[in-house]
Amino acid sequence: MNRRELLDLAIEVSAKAYAPYSKITVGAALLTEDDTAYTGVNIENASYGATNCAERTAVFKAVADGYRKIKAIAITSNLKKFIMPCGICRQVLVEFGSPTMEIILGDKDDYVVYTLEQLLPMSFKPVDLRGARYNV
Ligand code: THU
Repeated sequence: MNRRELLDLAIEVSAKAYAPYSKITVGAALLTEDDTAYTGVNIENASYGATNCAERTAVFKAVADGYRKIKAIAITSNLKKFIMPCGICRQVLVEFGSPTMEIILGDKDDYVVYTLEQLLPMSFKPVDLRGARYNV
């Protein structure tokens, strides 16, 4: 699946977003290392802090199915500007992505591509726990 197709999948699934409070509907579509596609939407909550972003919904679905490596994710929303993944989602992507994984932001007409390293440089990674002073 190419970038355009992955983004189109994100656009399609964004119709299923549950966003009665912000009205910002977000869709995400990711590719696992074996090219399996997973989609996600933002799921809001009356207790606002319990909201889950579209990116994390997609990642958690893939991980729950046994995948541990994600190589690309496309994200879209109904906002005029391309939506940027929030800090928490970037950190979750670090857990299951690579520094060079592609983050595709766009709409039906256009898109831009960043690497995860560009969006979250010098991140705290799973490997960093190996340097922990105490075993956890
Ligand atoms: N949202 C996402 O789904 N992904 C992001 O990376 C940014 C924010 C959602 C969460 C909330 O439902 C709405 O957008 C407004 O913050």
